[in-house]
Amino acid sequence: MLRTDIEIRIAITEDAEAISRTIVNALHESNARDYAPPVIERIAASFTPHHIARQLAERHVLVATLSGEIVGTVSLEKNVLRSFFVDPAYHGQGVGTALLEEIEGLAAANGHFSLAVAASVTAEHFYRRRGFTALREVVQGNVRVILMAKELD
Ligand SMILES: CC(C)(COP(=O)(O)OP(=O)(O)OC[C@H]1O[C@@H](n2cnc3c(N)ncnc32)[C@H](O)[C@@H]1OP(=O)(O)O)[C@@H](O)C(=O)NCCC(=O)NCCS
Repeated sequence: MLRTDIEIRIAITEDAEAISRTIVNALHESNARDYAPPVIERIAASFTPHHIARQLAERHVLVATLSGEIVGTVSLEKNVLRSFFVDPAYHGQGVGTALLEEIEGLAAANGHFSLAVAASVTAEHFYRRRGFTALREVVQGNVRVILMAKELD
């Protein structure tokens, strides 16, 4: 069921812990179906609260909340979508779609004509359904991803 109470805002430093928790939950429950445990652990190690706090200073980072609780996050670096995760307890309720729409709007407002992503195998279908085209598959540091892009209006 799609939620109508999803709120999206810019992340602040105090969100780092909740963002990290959301990402690590998604890695362990969702991405773990497509990637081997050492790969998951290595990626999880790059999303500690400390790493997130640093990223907050370097990128546009958004969070999605339900009743004030952080349940999803996405970030934008130039025209590249990064670190897009929804807590698995809330998958399939429209949180990811809401975050994607917001980041597409932000990229367009920043003057970009396309949005790119190194998509996880896990999320490839999600991106395809939302207008992204696969360009090619690459292995980034032992992790298989699909480079995808979408024209912005
Ligand atoms: C990709 C992701 C962010 C999407 O978030 P989400 O909140 O589940 O997204 P939505 O609810 O808007 O849409 C999910 C889709 O799965 C379907 N779905 C239904 N029930 C579902 C469930 N229980 N779990 C997951 N998806 C479900 C939805 O109907 C929707 O289908 P559609 O694409 O045919 O419209 C999320 O799945 C995720 O965190 N994945 C793991 C991390 C990842 O790989 N991120 C991308 C990195 S590049």
